Amino acid sequence: MKALEEKILQEGVVVDGDILKVDGFVNHQVDVPLMEEIGKDMAEHFKEQGITKVFTIESSGIAPALFTAKELGVPLVILKKQQTADSLKTEVWQTEVVSYTKDTSYRLTLAKNYISDEDHVLIIDDFLANGEAATGAIRLIRKAHATVAGLGVLIEKAFQPGHEKLESQGIHVYAQASIQAFEDGKVVF
Ligand code: G4P
Ligand code: NA
Ligand code: NA
Repeated sequence: MKALEEKILQEGVVVDGDILKVDGFVNHQVDVPLMEEIGKDMAEHFKEQGITKVFTIESSGIAPALFTAKELGVPLVILKKQQTADSLKTEVWQTEVVSYTKDTSYRLTLAKNYISDEDHVLIIDDFLANGEAATGAIRLIRKAHATVAGLGVLIEKAFQPGHEKLESQGIHVYAQASIQAFEDGKVVF
């Protein structure tokens, strides 16, 4: 997606060799018109898939997922990251996710109320790196006997294993900006 690639080239900052900071328009401050354009592009890509819900993982996926869901005319469900075992009264599906980039883990959590075996779910997230977060979301969807329509991400780091891992499980992955490498602190698409 041209507008996103241009924004990354203009405002993205490469840190520690392999992390792209996009705090100015995705992760901290949010460029709302760009998120709307992103949502429209996601919806256009997946519109023939019979999607019944959009899922995202808190927190940075929420803005683009919101516009995607609006465009598709379906509900948005935000999967929660919990640090401890769930003590709520609601019935939940949970699965452990390990983040290599941030060296942490959390329990990805979905209340059973917000999914049924009739759902066909599109997952939207900001980054695809190792694919652990997306794989966790897929585990939750499958626990509920629902199906996965695909994964849409704003930015994938194509040199990390996420994309290949997911496609090898039959998941369709759409990346609006695909980073092949970082060379001398610069993004190469
Ligand atoms: P994975 O889900 O693909 O396995 O990714 P990984 O665990 O490696 O990434 C963990 C977190 O780091 C995710 O955010 C992911 O979006 C983010 N991340 C990975 N690579 C980059 C990068 O190059 N730049 C930026 N800005 N973020 C990156 P999260 O912990 O889920 O947090 P949130 O931002 O959604 O709240
Ligand atoms: Na994220
Ligand atoms: Na993130």
